[in-house]
Amino acid sequence: MKPLLGTLYLLGMLVPRGLGYDRFPARHRREVVDKTGSPWRSLETYSYDRYHPMEEIYQWMNQISEKYTEVVTQHFLGMTYETRPLYYLQISQPSNNPKKIIWMDCGIHAREWIAPAFCQWFVKEILQNYKDNSRIRGFLKNLDFYVLPVLNIDGYIYTWTTDRLWRKSRSSHNNGTCFGTDLNRNFNISWCSTGASQNCEDITFCGTGPASEPETQAVSSLIESQKENVVCFLTIHSYGQLILTPYGYTTNKSSNHEELIQVGQKAANALKAKHGTNYRVGASADILYTTSGSSKDWAHDIGIPFSYTVELRDNGTFGFILPETQIQATCEETMEAILSIVDDVYAKYWSSNSAGKVTSTAVVLSLLTSFTSLL
Ligand SMILES: *[C@@H]1O[C@H](CO)[C@@H](O)[C@H](O)[C@H]1NC(C)=O
Ligand SMILES: *[C@@H]1O[C@H](CO)[C@@H](O)[C@H](O)[C@H]1NC(C)=O
Ligand SMILES: *[C@@H]1O[C@H](CO)[C@@H](O)[C@H](O)[C@H]1NC(C)=O
Ligand SMILES: *[C@@H]1O[C@H](CO)[C@@H](O)[C@H](O)[C@H]1NC(C)=O
Ligand SMILES: [Zn+2]
Repeated sequence: MKPLLGTLYLLGMLVPRGLGYDRFPARHRREVVDKTGSPWRSLETYSYDRYHPMEEIYQWMNQISEKYTEVVTQHFLGMTYETRPLYYLQISQPSNNPKKIIWMDCGIHAREWIAPAFCQWFVKEILQNYKDNSRIRGFLKNLDFYVLPVLNIDGYIYTWTTDRLWRKSRSSHNNGTCFGTDLNRNFNISWCSTGASQNCEDITFCGTGPASEPETQAVSSLIESQKENVVCFLTIHSYGQLILTPYGYTTNKSSNHEELIQVGQKAANALKAKHGTNYRVGASADILYTTSGSSKDWAHDIGIPFSYTVELRDNGTFGFILPETQIQATCEETMEAILSIVDDVYAKYWSSNSAGKVTSTAVVLSLLTSFTSLL
């Protein structure tokens, strides 16, 4: 496994340069240096309160899996359109127990930089605390975390080199006259029926068919192959401060709607307790807008019970360009929300005095807010 991974990693670092990364002038790139100008060599000096270009995130993933070999493995799950390798980190305590899986991906939309920052923060927190923190240690007895720090790698790189507000992937359409598919409209669920566009010029272009994009295929086939074990699917976005449940493609309620809202509201409360930030909880089609082909709807409808999209800070003041000074507080509060969700998932499957038993709760839906841009 190791040599294969190594080779793929090398390919990933080399191939994209030939395919376009170096087309962009060096001044657009940030070298692997910190503010003082010295390269970060060890994880100890990695700054989790800054945004990192993809090269650094690749290095970070390698270093994390080298430092924590006993609990972390890096797995290849496919290539991007521009042939960069996609890896997820599996955090898993060795044991003979059959485990369930918590999936989390970040950065499906390129410009939402706080999302990859959170995935990295999350991994760091789990790894720094799993030995001493009984809550996290408890989770790892029965659960593995699968974390994909940047799903839309090509798009993410493009936001560093060329267009900070790029959202989509970088696939080429109409003879290279327009670029990019909205990967969160490309999943095979009610594909392109509502809240998505068939025109590749558009920001919500749904692609040329369900799961037409390699990034979508990579995630879909991994989750599909593990769907009996995946109990929770989390996909992290920004911005808007929302915890969204299925569905986006219909205002019909999902099978476990009340339970999802209850768990989501508890997570929002835990989040607010940290720094006072307000989040709203509800089904996408109810509190945001309709969307077809989204990953959370797809995951729910292949049978993953707990499926959430989380829209991180802020509320529109800085929008996608969330200042680095807010990374730490955003990650701290989001960590509380995610741990709260995992608590409830865990309780439902493994505790006798289950907190997952659901009473029908009246759901107070907040007023619709109109957003000027797509999240
Ligand atoms: C792409 O270009 C080829 C050759 O110029 C042409 O035959 C074809 O119709 C074009 N396709 C589209 C979708 O424009
Ligand atoms: C999409 O899902 C349907 C089942 O809902 C399946 O029949 C079809 O083959 C899937 N398409 C793709 C491209 O995966
Ligand atoms: C919504 O529910 C109605 C009534 O059960 C059903 O007829 C309809 O097909 C559902 N819509 C979708 C998009 O699933
Ligand atoms: C975000 O905006 C909504 C709608 O205006 C508002 O209800 C909510 O309190 C705001 N949250 C924060 C933290 O400002
Ligand atoms: Zn988004």
